Amino acid sequence: MSARDAQPNAIQLKDYRAPDYLIDRTDLRVDIGDEVTQVSADLALRRNPSADQPVPELALNGSDMHLISVAIDGRPLESHEFRVDEESLVLINPPEEFRLQTLGEIKPQLNKSLEGLYKSRTIYCTQCEAEGFRKITWYLDRPDVMSEFTTTIVADKTRCPLLLSNGNLLEEGDLEHGRHFATWHDPHKKPAYLFALVAGDLQHITDHFTTRSGREVTLKIYVEEKDLDKCGHAMESLKHAMRWDEERYGREYDLDIFMIVAVDDFNMGAMENKGLNIFNTACVLAKPETTTDTGFQRVEAVVAHEYFHNWSGNRVTCRDWFQLSLKEGFTVYRDSMFSADMGSPTVKRVEDVSMLRTAQFAEDAGPMAHPVRPDSYIEISNFYTLTIYEKGSEVVRMLANLLGPELFRKGTDLYFDRHDGQAVTTEDFVAAMEEVSGRDFTQFKRWYSQAGTPLLEVSDSYDAEQDEYHLTIRQSCRPTPECGRKQPFHIPVAMGLLGAAGPLPLLLQGEGGDSSSTHRVLEVTEEEQTFTFEGIHEQPVPALLRDFSAPVKLQYDYSRDNLTQLMSLDSDGFCRWDASQQLARRVIEDFMAAYLSGEDLTQVKVDARLIEAYRTLLNDEHLDKAMVALMLTLPSEAYISEQMEQIEVEAIHHSRQAVRHALALELEAEFRSVYADHDYSVAYEVSAQAIAQRSLANLALEYLMLRQGPGVVALCEQQYHQSSNMTDRLSALTQIVNSPAHAAAERKEDVLNDFYQRWQGESLVVDQWLRVQATCPLPGTMERVRALESHPAFDPLNPNKIRALVAAFSNGNAINFHATSGEGYELLGNHVLRLNAENPQIAARLLTPLTRWRRYPGERSEQMRAQLERILAEPKISKDVYEVASKSLA
Ligand code: TRP
Ligand code: ZN
Repeated sequence: MSARDAQPNAIQLKDYRAPDYLIDRTDLRVDIGDEVTQVSADLALRRNPSADQPVPELALNGSDMHLISVAIDGRPLESHEFRVDEESLVLINPPEEFRLQTLGEIKPQLNKSLEGLYKSRTIYCTQCEAEGFRKITWYLDRPDVMSEFTTTIVADKTRCPLLLSNGNLLEEGDLEHGRHFATWHDPHKKPAYLFALVAGDLQHITDHFTTRSGREVTLKIYVEEKDLDKCGHAMESLKHAMRWDEERYGREYDLDIFMIVAVDDFNMGAMENKGLNIFNTACVLAKPETTTDTGFQRVEAVVAHEYFHNWSGNRVTCRDWFQLSLKEGFTVYRDSMFSADMGSPTVKRVEDVSMLRTAQFAEDAGPMAHPVRPDSYIEISNFYTLTIYEKGSEVVRMLANLLGPELFRKGTDLYFDRHDGQAVTTEDFVAAMEEVSGRDFTQFKRWYSQAGTPLLEVSDSYDAEQDEYHLTIRQSCRPTPECGRKQPFHIPVAMGLLGAAGPLPLLLQGEGGDSSSTHRVLEVTEEEQTFTFEGIHEQPVPALLRDFSAPVKLQYDYSRDNLTQLMSLDSDGFCRWDASQQLARRVIEDFMAAYLSGEDLTQVKVDARLIEAYRTLLNDEHLDKAMVALMLTLPSEAYISEQMEQIEVEAIHHSRQAVRHALALELEAEFRSVYADHDYSVAYEVSAQAIAQRSLANLALEYLMLRQGPGVVALCEQQYHQSSNMTDRLSALTQIVNSPAHAAAERKEDVLNDFYQRWQGESLVVDQWLRVQATCPLPGTMERVRALESHPAFDPLNPNKIRALVAAFSNGNAINFHATSGEGYELLGNHVLRLNAENPQIAARLLTPLTRWRRYPGERSEQMRAQLERILAEPKISKDVYEVASKSLA
């Protein structure tokens, strides 16, 4: 496709039509050769009884394939009976019911898009979601066509001793010329996007799980031989997830075998193919020496996420891709509750909310903003977004909280039972929730259809004579590309009121009775609503949006004293953390104001209330260490940027740094004593407690390093060398690399070299090595990133390497990426253009930071826009990149 040709069409939800034909059975034979792979398909097609009108033509999707032959019921078609082009095979006047036999050729070894059948190092594997199956054979490649698959794989027995596909192994055996075959049958009907095939030389670990009803399930994780020692955590996580889904949702596994395969080249985290999940190695492999705490948690979460899809996605699937959040939002909600149960619920909530408020809110405020259920797209791969996943999960969470645990469980039971084996919509999901609760969610469904982040402006007044407290909530939502005027949302606001001596009882006017409850959920449905609380004998401080009960921005004019009170007294961990962030943000804003008016930041004072609040946290032995670490971490530059209309890169960076330096000075003694408690040479444990201990100690080390003393660099280097685990080691490395101190700069190259020498054989650790260098805020990073582009460790086509170097630099290093020379933008533009042809999905994703060009004042926005224009001028632009670049410039 070319920009000068017809522009790619947008696909619209309102144009949805049921498929004209169904495919009852799909028989595939994939014969893998070094040069050419032959795919023969035998499809049992039948007119869809519920389709509108008989059609004279039937188009099957197909691309990047060479057609050898096509036959109906064994009779080869003549040239007037079909046509084949770049994206389809059209059958002219097909019968009502027939078998379609096609033979095609593909070249997986040349496929760098990592979609369809491709080769990751020596392993052949597939990625079919969303529309990759059409690169394997001609098909009705849409999720509402569900079929029973039988798959035979043929390959060289030495190079590919292992042949896997979905379901159960039916038969295997040897063939001539050193080749062999395996035939798999999947008894569950599924859409083509859940098809998978793997062929290669892999080793595995095995375990077993007995389901609640007594089914014996074999569990296997397949990896390269050198990684066999890193599969244990994924296997434990899988068994926990299987048990959890039985206990919390009553969902059992439904085949005799569950397999996970890990590959190095993968566009996303993992894929839930029926019975044969395929994973990015980054989301399977973990051991203490090579993997950080974050890495361990990610493995647990992704293994669970893909496993949970077996019900939320596979047994009950999506009618069309506009319904993507039906499976993704729900499954993210399921995996987040699982992770909360496995570790620390408050920490998990804070992490999720931070990500949502930073990255999803930014998406919602930018040119790619779309509703949780979009109504149009050009390339569906661009819609695997934070909005679909994370905001979608928040929407399910609101429903779950509005219903309460028992009714929500009734609702999910009804949804799974009623729609088992079907391809359905988000409407069907909400209908099940309405039915079990008797509630009307008509208004609530605007969360699915309207994009944008609602803003709640809260004001209050206290009437001492009447003992009444009035809370007024006004909601509004900025226009987004699909909708200018928003209808009000249905917003659950969980809240409480704090008095001097603790929480106050909440008695809402008009409800009568007396209440001893100190927590409640206000349901905001109008543009403006006032809630009056009775029997309030003092001016309270409202604790609002506890546990982040809705994905909104909330503004209330807290005094700094109110914030310290909330930080220490509120019953809700999320609210305590959020108050700490608001207070810290105010303090950073003091510095930003000074910076922008040209003052010397060393002369600005940090508000003593922040220092004292932090000191109290550091001295309280009873507090959860993880909470302390979270509260002592200043809001990120990305989060502060998201709050600003016009993003002042230098002001944000230097102000935040100045506050960190001041805190390091004021709280040095406290940080020293926290750090002194840390023993990084003990045997590693992944428990929530051990993780909390490490995160607080490493935060203390980070603050201590800001003091720049020679002693502390030695301390850091000692931790680097003597740690038992990657969390402590990488943290020490990062501190040395990021420190401007002379003593650190002197040691930096040696330590980086040592790290590389030690871990160059571990690709995932090399990713960390690249990421540390790419995100270093010091001057000189741009040159280093350029040098690393031609380092042997950097593979320009491997998504993990691109994310570790290029995406980390452009999303996680504002001060260097936004260099006033514009070089950062050009560097990114070059990678996008290079990947546009080879891997359009990754190219389009890389573009994200440039889409925000309107938020940067002056030269910067011009330079960013110029890169988007350069990209859009590319004659062979992919649909993926075209959609993001053109919508950004519109
Ligand atoms: N369904 C996958 C998930 O669990 C997402 C996914 C994996 C994907 N690979 C992909 C989406 C490639 C688009 C393209 O989240
Ligand atoms: Zn998913």
